[in-house]
Amino acid sequence: MKGDWFKRFSDGGKLYLNDESFQPALSAIKEDLPTYLEYIREGDKVLEAACGPGYTAIPLSHYFKVTGFDRDVKVLDAARQNGEKYGKDVEFVEADFFDIVKAFGKNSFDAVSSGGVLEHFPKDKIKTLLDLQLEVAPIVFAQMPLFTKEQVEGVNQFGIETHHYTKKDYLEDIFKGYNILEHRTLEKRPVFGRFREFMAVIGR
Ligand SMILES: C[S@@+](CC[C@H](N)C(=O)[O-])C[C@H]1O[C@@H](n2cnc3c(N)ncnc32)[C@H](O)[C@@H]1O
Repeated sequence: MKGDWFKRFSDGGKLYLNDESFQPALSAIKEDLPTYLEYIREGDKVLEAACGPGYTAIPLSHYFKVTGFDRDVKVLDAARQNGEKYGKDVEFVEADFFDIVKAFGKNSFDAVSSGGVLEHFPKDKIKTLLDLQLEVAPIVFAQMPLFTKEQVEGVNQFGIETHHYTKKDYLEDIFKGYNILEHRTLEKRPVFGRFREFMAVIGR
């Protein structure tokens, strides 16, 4: 996934959590908690993939033992500061998504989750990343915004590429052949703006 994420977060005022931004992030996780708890238990080990400043990893750490990883050290530095302020059981590690088996080991977590990450990769890369996540943990929670075609700019001013994938693309193409345990559309997600999100739970 190309692009200057640090600049994107800092220019957008999204690098550091505050009370105003943390509360909706926590509410979003509370809303999703019943889904997580269908597959893992409270206190289980969750790897939060390409965690950014920790908008998902940090609220998740109120319920699970979370390791967030990202390849951008400046973003990770912000995530650590956010974690100290708002996290519970959370650590942040520098790693590349494509190296997670090497970095963390096979079967090292109970689940891998990601939010707002997979739609930045081409379809073949998403499949590679799913295979890697399923080596690291038996359950994958994946959340992707369902942008409209107009909201997807291709490559934006930060060099970040976003793909316009529909729910049908995920179910009938990208995730085809995978063990989709559950999927649903979340009507509104308040953290990075208002758009629908698609969540899929994938098992081995
Ligand atoms: C949309 S942000 C993730 C936001 C995050 N889910 C949250 O809830 O705060 C995408 C992140 O992916 C990271 N990233 C991009 N490519 C990566 C890779 N190959 N390995 C690890 N992290 C990567 C970027 O540095 C960026 O922080």
